[in-house]
Amino acid sequence: MATTASSPGPGGRNLRRDSCNLIDLQRSPFLSHYRKQLSKAGVSPAAPFPHKIGAFLSKHIFAWAYSYLKFIFLPKHKFQNYTDSIGEKGVYVLQPDSAKGGPDPSSPIRVSIAGDWGTGTSEAEDIALHMEAFKPHYTIHLGDIYYVGDQEEVNENCLGKAEPYEPIQPVRWPHGSIGSFAMNGNHEMYANGDAYFELFLPTLGIPSSDEGRRYGQKASFFCLQNKFWRIIGLDTGYNSLGFPILEHIPVIRDIPGIGPSCKLPRSLIEWLRDQVQPSGDDRGLILLTHHQYFSAFEEGYALPARQLAEFINRPILWFWGHEHRLAIYGKYGTPGGIQAYGRCVGHGGFPVNQGRPITNPKPPLVLYDDRNYKTVEGANLGFNGFVNLTFQDNRLSIDYRDFRNQTLLEENWHVEAGALRGISIENINPELTRTISHANAAFT
Ligand SMILES: [Fe+2]
Ligand SMILES: [Fe+2]
Repeated sequence: MATTASSPGPGGRNLRRDSCNLIDLQRSPFLSHYRKQLSKAGVSPAAPFPHKIGAFLSKHIFAWAYSYLKFIFLPKHKFQNYTDSIGEKGVYVLQPDSAKGGPDPSSPIRVSIAGDWGTGTSEAEDIALHMEAFKPHYTIHLGDIYYVGDQEEVNENCLGKAEPYEPIQPVRWPHGSIGSFAMNGNHEMYANGDAYFELFLPTLGIPSSDEGRRYGQKASFFCLQNKFWRIIGLDTGYNSLGFPILEHIPVIRDIPGIGPSCKLPRSLIEWLRDQVQPSGDDRGLILLTHHQYFSAFEEGYALPARQLAEFINRPILWFWGHEHRLAIYGKYGTPGGIQAYGRCVGHGGFPVNQGRPITNPKPPLVLYDDRNYKTVEGANLGFNGFVNLTFQDNRLSIDYRDFRNQTLLEENWHVEAGALRGISIENINPELTRTISHANAAFT
């Protein structure tokens, strides 16, 4: 079995999932269900073809067929919203811990974010520990639990619960002292979103907001806000799957309804319009989604940015995952879409593709991490990492770190009358790749 040694865990389990099991995993439900069964059979994806055939001349071929057909023929999970919630509207106070007499509004508020983290690898475990060391008030996962985000994988890769089918030490998503949220990714939807909505979300949310009823996180979107800032998490994963098979064929996938659109669901748009009302607001705005708005390395998903143009007419900070890398962009928008300072942080656990060429020169890429972490079975892998945000009054500090907890760069922002203003970029690791000599281009 392709696993690596790690520190001994409960029940004699002393192995983590080896990242080589995840290398070259395609964004395909069919192939993701296949890779899950290959892993359950204990066969590396790099194993010779006869080994794979042997593995599948067993119950695993039936399990693959069953899980994939279940995905194809059963409807995806109901899109949960706040209309049927008791009292909750999905808008929560962004605040530090309550001291005696209530929280001090000028105290720093710490938020730790990781994307594409749900892998169960030792790198994911390291990142979870470093996030906890930051003592965050909130943690947010930007989505993707591998291979298909089903019950077994949510248990093993996010809830720290061992599954009997493999001797892997499970990993637990770190919670903030006030709350924790998880975004929806395409891989969660490969199992129709059932385990994401029914198993993972109930463990998250703001416990104090439901008066002990433990509803957890009620929906796949939310807003955290205070006097100066708003963090709005949106769901681009729910509509991220295209038509089976056809979505992978070039040209055909561009036909509306065939390829993935990542369209924001109607009830989410109504929530923005009725509850959040970003149009007349003048707080600093930070968006979170699983999918990238734009990219210098692969295709982007511009439809949500066009939907958001109804509400947002000023530049925002936008953190996303899906692409497994760290990349920092200057201000950019596609026709009809909002303007955003893009921050790709989808390097939270999935093996990072290192050495990939820039294929789209339009988005103003300023910095990215293309350092070589290791080479596994011929694949060059980059560094996993995460990001810590510290809010204090109208100031925001963003600290990008790798899985060894080394700072890669820090950026500092102010918000003044709704306008984001970049103040400085500091402590830039000299090994990061610069495509523009002035790092301050990340603010312009
Ligand atoms: Fe991913
Ligand atoms: Fe993804």
